[in-house]
Amino acid sequence: MSGIVLMSGSVRGGSYNSAVVATVRRIVAERFGGVWTEVLDAGELPFYDEDLDAVDGSEAVVRMRERVRAADVVLLSTPSYNGAASGVLKNAVDWLSRPYGESALDDRITVVTSASPGPRGAVDAQAGLVEVLGHAGALVVEHPPVAVAHAEELITTQGEFEDPRVLAELESLVRAALDAAGWGAAGQDAAGQ
Ligand code: FNR
Repeated sequence: MSGIVLMSGSVRGGSYNSAVVATVRRIVAERFGGVWTEVLDAGELPFYDEDLDAVDGSEAVVRMRERVRAADVVLLSTPSYNGAASGVLKNAVDWLSRPYGESALDDRITVVTSASPGPRGAVDAQAGLVEVLGHAGALVVEHPPVAVAHAEELITTQGEFEDPRVLAELESLVRAALDAAGWGAAGQDAAGQ
């Protein structure tokens, strides 16, 4: 069974990026049968401290590394904070990338998306995050950028997105990641058969 771990780069209540994560979970449940999803909380992690590489990490760090290793795909949704991915997300990638030579992201199929209330959907934060992920060993899937613009206007009262274009783009991104991870090779289809 294939699995996707998802992480929002915002710890804000009512975050549009957390809404992207919730929407992707629903898309996967409805369209990609047999694929499990799990949300990881970047806000649970302490600040990265290289001194702790040599000793057992905190429970949150150990668990996050374990869940990322258990997944076939990692999906990250970031806000743009001053043109870059959020600090909590960078912090999570730094934890996952260490100890040196043991990155939990090594060869992990990864996709990046973003959201903002503005007209560009925080797309400007994606390139830098992709570069960081490459340093951490992740295999970032090539796909046209998926960025949820005007998120304030599109978010539903359930804290998700229903806009057809947003749903289609997120589904396309997930499909590209699962294809890269070899999903479908065993004969699964959108109905999970
Ligand atoms: C922002 N925001 C923002 N938006 C943007 O499109 N480009 C930017 O460079 C920035 N910079 C920025 C810096 C800081 C410190 C904050 C707090 C915010 C606005 C940002 O897109 C908005 O707060 C989003 O709602 C954040 O994402 P979540 O929390 O909704 O997921």
